Amino acid sequence: MRVRVPTLDDVDVDGKRVLVRVDFNVPLQEGGVVGDDTRIRATLPTLRELLDAGATLVLASHLGRPKGPDDEARLAPVAERLAELLERPVRYTPTSGPGASEQQTFVAAGESGSITLLENTRFDARETKNDPELAKVLAGYADLFVNDAFGAAHRAHASTEGVARLLPSYAGRLLERELTALGALLDDPERPFVVVLGGAKVSDKIGVISNLLGVADTILIGGAMAFTFAKAAGGRVGDSLVEDDKLDLARDLVTEAEERGVRLLVPDDVVCAPRVERGIEIAVHAIDDIPDGQKGLDVGPDTIRRFERIVLAARTVLWNGPMGVFEIPPFDVGTRAIAHAVAESGASSVIGGGDSVAAVNAIGVADRIGHVSTGGGASLEFLEGRTLPGVAALGSVGGA
Ligand code: 3PG
Repeated sequence: MRVRVPTLDDVDVDGKRVLVRVDFNVPLQEGGVVGDDTRIRATLPTLRELLDAGATLVLASHLGRPKGPDDEARLAPVAERLAELLERPVRYTPTSGPGASEQQTFVAAGESGSITLLENTRFDARETKNDPELAKVLAGYADLFVNDAFGAAHRAHASTEGVARLLPSYAGRLLERELTALGALLDDPERPFVVVLGGAKVSDKIGVISNLLGVADTILIGGAMAFTFAKAAGGRVGDSLVEDDKLDLARDLVTEAEERGVRLLVPDDVVCAPRVERGIEIAVHAIDDIPDGQKGLDVGPDTIRRFERIVLAARTVLWNGPMGVFEIPPFDVGTRAIAHAVAESGASSVIGGGDSVAAVNAIGVADRIGHVSTGGGASLEFLEGRTLPGVAALGSVGGA
């Protein structure tokens, strides 16, 4: 692991009460049912290991971004799904927040070996302020703290950072796996190391591109952010999405790539249409010669072939962000092609970002990807080379 943090290997939890921060920020469907339980499943190894070793669990998570108690963001559906997956009862009661007095009474009544899920941490306004008083209440629920919420590790909140400074604290197995997989990309990737970046905005990926220019061999740019690069190089991009205030920055990144000997490639051709509409008639244009009235919405066939060849020859691949408007066919072709190529490459592969993960799930190749990250913002911040506060705080209190 790149960042040395204490893990479950360093602690005996038998007979201990353990507060586990998990990232159960999952989509809820109408009727209050968990829509995608990937993040819940991802924590099962940690939870089972702790239970098998004799711990009593108190779980904390946020869901959405509520500004206070909110019936739409209660964790009841998550408790239900977790109980199904663990095949064990999960104690949960709706409260006004994780530090409320009724919550404290409920936690205290949990028997040895039980699992209690606290109410949404963000029902308490003190959570996102990393308020020491809330951190103290949370610390009072347990003897030890385990952070398994990689997806929230970039947040310095009371349940991620604050509490880790009050209890002996350890990384859970998911957090450990994420740090190992993402850390290996930055430390010692097998070469060639190919990075595929997509998504709408260059501004979201500047930090990642800058940092990866120091380690990648090739960076392939897809998605709408390619048009900012194309326009910066003097191309005609029609009505495609462009961040005009980032043109200089795109030029700087290209210059830096040249200086460092990294190939930074944008698409040659793109699939265009007047608007995003399912099944609409499409045309293929060179990325630097898109007529007015047309906008680029996916990478074109020549680009797909070129990107596929490069990905298939890679020994390490990182992919984050879709190549086009993946949710609406026919603009899903490039993203699907990249998903297949990453799976078939046989390279050490890491995928992050909701749409890329959805693409590998949709075409059924997720089991051929080395590591599918549960972190969105957290994985980007890690790849930017930034310290994640939820990780940095682990181990700051002496072991139990
Ligand atoms: C995520 O979905 O990326 C994490 O759960 C973090 O959520 P946040 O951006 O609301 O802090």
